[in-house]
Amino acid sequence: MKGQVLCEKRTASDGSCVAVLTMDNKPVNALSAGVRVGLEKQLQELTADSSVKAAVLSGGPGVFCGGADISEFATGVEGPSLTDIIAAIENSEKPVVAAIDGVSLGGGYEVALGCHWRLASSRAQAGLPEVNLGILPGAGGTQRLPRLIGAEKSVDFICRGTPMKAQKAVQLGLYDQLVDGDYSSLLQAAVEFAAKAAGQDLTLRRLGRGKAKAAELSQKRQEYAKSRKGELAPQAIISCVEAAVAQDFQDAMKVEFSEFCKLMVGPQAQALQYMFFAQRQCQKVPGLDKAAAPGTCGIVGAGLMGSGIAMCCAENGIKVVLLDIDQKNLDRGMTAIKKNYARSVERKSKSQAQVDGLLASITPSTSYDSLGHCDIVVEAVFENMDLKRKIFAELDRVCKPGCVLASNTSGLNIDSIAEATKRPQDVVGCHFFSPANVMPLLENVRGPRTAPQVMAKAMAFGAKLKKVTCLVGNCPGFIANRVMNVSGWTHLIQGGLLPHQIDAAAEAFGMRMGPTRMMDLVGLDLFGRERERKGEQDPDRVVFDAMYKASRFGQKSGKGYYSYDASRRHSRDPEAEALIQQVWKNLGVQPREMSQEEIIDVLYLPVVNEGFKCLEEGMALRASDIDVCCVFGYNWPRYTGGPMKWGFSLGLDQVLAKVEKMGLKPSELLKEGAQKKWRINSKEFNAGVASAWNSRWTSKL
Ligand code: 3HC
Repeated sequence: MKGQVLCEKRTASDGSCVAVLTMDNKPVNALSAGVRVGLEKQLQELTADSSVKAAVLSGGPGVFCGGADISEFATGVEGPSLTDIIAAIENSEKPVVAAIDGVSLGGGYEVALGCHWRLASSRAQAGLPEVNLGILPGAGGTQRLPRLIGAEKSVDFICRGTPMKAQKAVQLGLYDQLVDGDYSSLLQAAVEFAAKAAGQDLTLRRLGRGKAKAAELSQKRQEYAKSRKGELAPQAIISCVEAAVAQDFQDAMKVEFSEFCKLMVGPQAQALQYMFFAQRQCQKVPGLDKAAAPGTCGIVGAGLMGSGIAMCCAENGIKVVLLDIDQKNLDRGMTAIKKNYARSVERKSKSQAQVDGLLASITPSTSYDSLGHCDIVVEAVFENMDLKRKIFAELDRVCKPGCVLASNTSGLNIDSIAEATKRPQDVVGCHFFSPANVMPLLENVRGPRTAPQVMAKAMAFGAKLKKVTCLVGNCPGFIANRVMNVSGWTHLIQGGLLPHQIDAAAEAFGMRMGPTRMMDLVGLDLFGRERERKGEQDPDRVVFDAMYKASRFGQKSGKGYYSYDASRRHSRDPEAEALIQQVWKNLGVQPREMSQEEIIDVLYLPVVNEGFKCLEEGMALRASDIDVCCVFGYNWPRYTGGPMKWGFSLGLDQVLAKVEKMGLKPSELLKEGAQKKWRINSKEFNAGVASAWNSRWTSKL
């Protein structure tokens, strides 16, 4: 059984004996069965031992508790229930004081709510993030919190799911008191506090009583239906908080239990919990040693991407040399950075002193020689192989031995770039997504000649930048762009559907923006010019070409697939639709109606098929890595678990049949999976993927 609870007896300054109970289950003291059994046993001993006057509950230095053990959810939770343990804490006749250092999250914060007082160090954080796992605080959190801070504030706190730092948490009433100093000061203060509280009437300190104050929550329902569109948990949370207002504690707890169970068995909870582990797993690459993160980063190109990467580095303690050989571009990049930070000061998300510090850590330069001391250099110029090769030859000349030479290309061959240097083993791809200081994903591209220790340094770079960092193979588009680029939207728009029909289906599926709105945002000119330059004639892109020729470049020109007002709000545009209809006429296509499900199949089953191709080619290490890339790089709805998880949930035989019906060439791995009825993360599937990966990479590790 994982975890335990330790007990040590301490004597307070008034001579009374206080039991210090410490949850012990590394790394985050999750409430696994062993911890729950330990708590149950220690609480019984607390009641039985008349020499002990009070108790302090802690998690040791640095972390109080990260909540229920999420890995138990899939296998079934056994042992004493957390709800009963919290009730036992609350009903104890002897005061129990929580001493919180580090995070108190989910079930961990619910345990703290069961304690009679909550003392916190400045490192403490309070949070009920269950909503991000597709569930709700199911051990009384939706009931005790409204009785503590009120219904409306509780709805916001639980539906946002964002942890709150100690000082703010005290202001909101989530903690009772802040204690200065380190963990031992906190523990000492909690022991003294508990000793003084011994013998007091605890009735008013028990939150599991009566009802919460009345509040009007219908507005909140609408608010969260919009801000957490498509998610079931927020609405269930509001129902529980409504029950906290309307019903006595015991009855309202039944509502919480029932809503919790409904969510827990649903597909959203399963997908979000899968994502929780997927996000953490993708950073782990078998065979790569740990490496030190770079302290100084050079960035070549001060455009939108380069300046975004510079901000991202500066904000995470990496010194930057921002290089552009054109002084005007460099000035423009630095001005953009300053403007961005000025807005942060206006919005009070950063202080002027912080911004001054960040700007001081970015050194603008027009000379390659200034990159000589950098640990990593990221090239971030536009997508032109000749230019990139020239830059890498120059980097080869000036960079110190061991410097990681990275390209931020979004699809060019890393190996061809590496050939321009005499050290191809030091060359990797670091593919940021725009805007680089906002988007959470970093794809680290492994070229065929990239050395493992260089790859390890690139992974450490991503971790230092707090990016969701995924190692991917060197293929056109890498993972996120490659799989999302095969989405069948061009096929639909050319096959008789108008932009708003396609986007409505995609957005109802959970995409933040449908594909034609997305194209308008990115700008049709970006791809149009490239296609023109290469003289590409793609029979699938006739509508696109018609839009481009009509200078309908998207938001930037006020018109694209839609028209845009001054605030960039989109609306259907008869002119654009007439253009599309003209293309249909020329192609002999009739306008069509398709169901939401049919549209989604055409849009996203090709993505699943391409994901399988990435796996069989050894370009992705795991199916869940592909999901992570799409969720964090393309805002694919997290609550479906990403395209691969979604594909598996449809059944691989169904996916294969539809892919074949669409006339696409199915992946061999998909065929095998459909025939063998693989499930995601099943042993057989993982073995198939691992063998493709190993045959490509193991010899190089
Ligand atoms: N259950 C099981 N494992 C957990 C866990 C949890 N609640 N929280 C973290 N872990 C594991 C991670 O999977 C990771 O394992 P690995 O090393 O094998 O990959 C390890 O602990 C360390 O986690 P992180 O890499 O995330 O470490 P950080 O220091 O960056 O973050 C954290 C720590 C802030 C606690 C973060 O892990 C986190 O946010 N955890 C989830 C918190 C949460 O959602 N709690 C609610 C759980 S549901 C619940 O309580 C239901 C209740 O209402 C009944």
